[in-house]
Amino acid sequence: MTVALVPGSFDPPTNGHLDVIARCAAIFDEVVVAVVRNPSKEPLFDLGERQRLLDECCQQWKNVRSASFDGLLVDFAREIGADAIVKGLRAITDFDHEFQHAQMNRHLSGIVTMFVATKPEFGYLSSSLVKEVVRLGGSVTDLVPAPVAAALEERFTS
Ligand code: PNS
Repeated sequence: MTVALVPGSFDPPTNGHLDVIARCAAIFDEVVVAVVRNPSKEPLFDLGERQRLLDECCQQWKNVRSASFDGLLVDFAREIGADAIVKGLRAITDFDHEFQHAQMNRHLSGIVTMFVATKPEFGYLSSSLVKEVVRLGGSVTDLVPAPVAAALEERFTS
């Protein structure tokens, strides 16, 4: 059985994330979408909320489940028996950072990192920009899954 580990902050999940998860679901037997417990920036959504949103957004794929992890990604990958870490690449600007992580993770445990090129229309899409647009009153309904749009609206209007 092949297992893909798709790690991230997912604060919040966007249509770009789902595009990557969809590709993995079609290729791997099992896909574990893992939310980092302590992202580098203070998250808008806490860990439970980020995982709940992922669960709602990924219901359509029976071989996708969410999880959370703390500490080194490679330790979590070993724990779940992941065959590969999968990350999305939006543009060449993502490459340098992601390549560095891939090489470090390979050095630490030998695990393979695979990159999925996101759809071109998601090339500019990021969780940070989504939050900024909503905070300033813009609409992101065509950029995030419906449960995320609802959660963002609730967060910024209540
Ligand atoms: O959504 P992001 O911000 O691109 O996710 C980054 C993430 C969570 C994949 C990365 O920060 C990570 O792997 N964190 C775990 C800590 C770790 O293993 N650090 C060494 C990586 S080389």
